[in-house]
Amino acid sequence: MNSNASNFGHRSWWRSAVIYQVYIRSFADGNGDGIGDIAGLRARLPYLAELGVDALWINPWYPSPMKDAGYDVSDFRAIEPLFGTLDDAREMIAEAHELGLRILLDIVPNHLSDQHAWFQAALAAGPGSRERARFIFRDGRGPGGDEPPNDWLSNFGGPAWTRVSDGNGKPGEWYLHLFTPEQPDVDWTNPEVREEFDQTMRFWFDMGVDGFRIDVAHGLAKAEGLPDIGSTAWPPVSSERVDHPHWDRDEVHDIYRAWRALADDYEDPRVFVAEAWVHNPERLAMYVRDDELHTAFNFDFLLAPWLAEPMRDSIIASLEAHEGVGAPPTWVLCNHDTVREVSRYARPQGVRELRHLDDLLELPADFELGVKRARAAALLMLCLPGGAYVYQGEELGLAEVEDLPKELLQDPGWKQSGYTLRGRDGCRVPIPWSGQEPPFGFTLNGATAAPWLPQPLSWRALTVQAQTGDQRSMLELYRRALRLRHEHPALGDGAMRWIDAPEGALAFARDPGFVCVVNMSAAHAPGPPGAELLFSSGELAGDGGVPADTTAWFSTP
Ligand code: GLC
Ligand code: CA
Repeated sequence: MNSNASNFGHRSWWRSAVIYQVYIRSFADGNGDGIGDIAGLRARLPYLAELGVDALWINPWYPSPMKDAGYDVSDFRAIEPLFGTLDDAREMIAEAHELGLRILLDIVPNHLSDQHAWFQAALAAGPGSRERARFIFRDGRGPGGDEPPNDWLSNFGGPAWTRVSDGNGKPGEWYLHLFTPEQPDVDWTNPEVREEFDQTMRFWFDMGVDGFRIDVAHGLAKAEGLPDIGSTAWPPVSSERVDHPHWDRDEVHDIYRAWRALADDYEDPRVFVAEAWVHNPERLAMYVRDDELHTAFNFDFLLAPWLAEPMRDSIIASLEAHEGVGAPPTWVLCNHDTVREVSRYARPQGVRELRHLDDLLELPADFELGVKRARAAALLMLCLPGGAYVYQGEELGLAEVEDLPKELLQDPGWKQSGYTLRGRDGCRVPIPWSGQEPPFGFTLNGATAAPWLPQPLSWRALTVQAQTGDQRSMLELYRRALRLRHEHPALGDGAMRWIDAPEGALAFARDPGFVCVVNMSAAHAPGPPGAELLFSSGELAGDGGVPADTTAWFSTP
């Protein structure tokens, strides 16, 4: 039983929660077709409870043509047949709850699939119709309307507009898609859109789901008149400007105030976490004001290099911004969109925004160092104030798979970048559970269907089975850290204060009686006087000092 099961009834559980991200198509395959599913997840719930996490966030599991791995949803209130049925979902949720695990789903409010009934109706109904008004259709510019209505770009490359034909097969209006052409954006100024998403949230909340991760939470509001951006810099990820015409506009906050009211209608509170790529912690904190969302991913921390000064600055900025609004910060090192941290930390540090595998591949790598730093980063993340996110496989110390054969790449960014950016498949490879060769127990009951992306043979040393019981393994590090985190009264939600540390190291204390020392480069950082070592990501020096690329937790009098 989860050591945290006793916390289950706690209303503010989310303020200190460690949430495990289940990328469902790569977690565990219950029916042997090589694709992860709900049956696989159900079978592995005891593993997650035993790991010691508090909740799961499950990436989209709704019916989808899979043009963007499920982020192109064609029906928000059903389950993709590849993954199972609504009954499977119901039973899985009930079982998770029995084990003390909360369940968060992924809601995708910025866009739908072009196969969603709404978009199909919009195409059929034509210009000026109520059906088109749910999306962002506009006339083109230039002679014959042959050019897109404005200069916005798709996040995956190319223009953010696609032209449809009118009823007579002639070129007609254009529709906006900030992602793939198969993901038309909806118009959030339309009350029908709001009502539809309210109903979707109630549908899942009524089924017992504890909350939602909000996809592209910073993208829902578009500036009136859809003005040009005036820059063709790509990728158009997070903006440096506050008045960007489609990222992080102030109008999104009205939407979240309404969502919060809806969630608060439930006796056992339902919670939200925002995926908002915004340009600084103050802008992020606006999403978690007390009548808005509960938490938001901290991408500033994820992108910070493994260097004491920028890491400290990032932590301070996050703590201050969150304190200003009374929300708990969260900490995250990777997810299904970013390069796994073992591979980032294996590279020379100092470069921010190493998000793209292709940029990274250029740099020399030391994977032993990457693992060492990832261990140290995990202990740092798990003792900072607030909550944390663990992406599946992170607890196994998996690195990005950098050499997937090009013909197997499925990320839409690969095609939309004109086959120049490999995209995100390398962090989405199915999890190794056991055995000596692929599929490494990913398909259950001994089925041997090839996983949808191939696993490297070297993962035989990193399976759950191989790491279990090996006290030096990453898995046992996570298990022990999560256990200590639940037991120690200083950890989770709360405050911290910095204490002196040599250059290249960070040290902070939390009450009662806890000190963390993170050495990011100093030759040697002393432990606090009179302290007792609780746990460390590596060996300490003979005199109790913390060597480079190591984090140590101490208990102090
Ligand atoms: C978010 C998701 C990403 C997806 C995009 C479009 O950033 O995390 O995987 O491609 O939104 O929905
Ligand atoms: Ca399957």
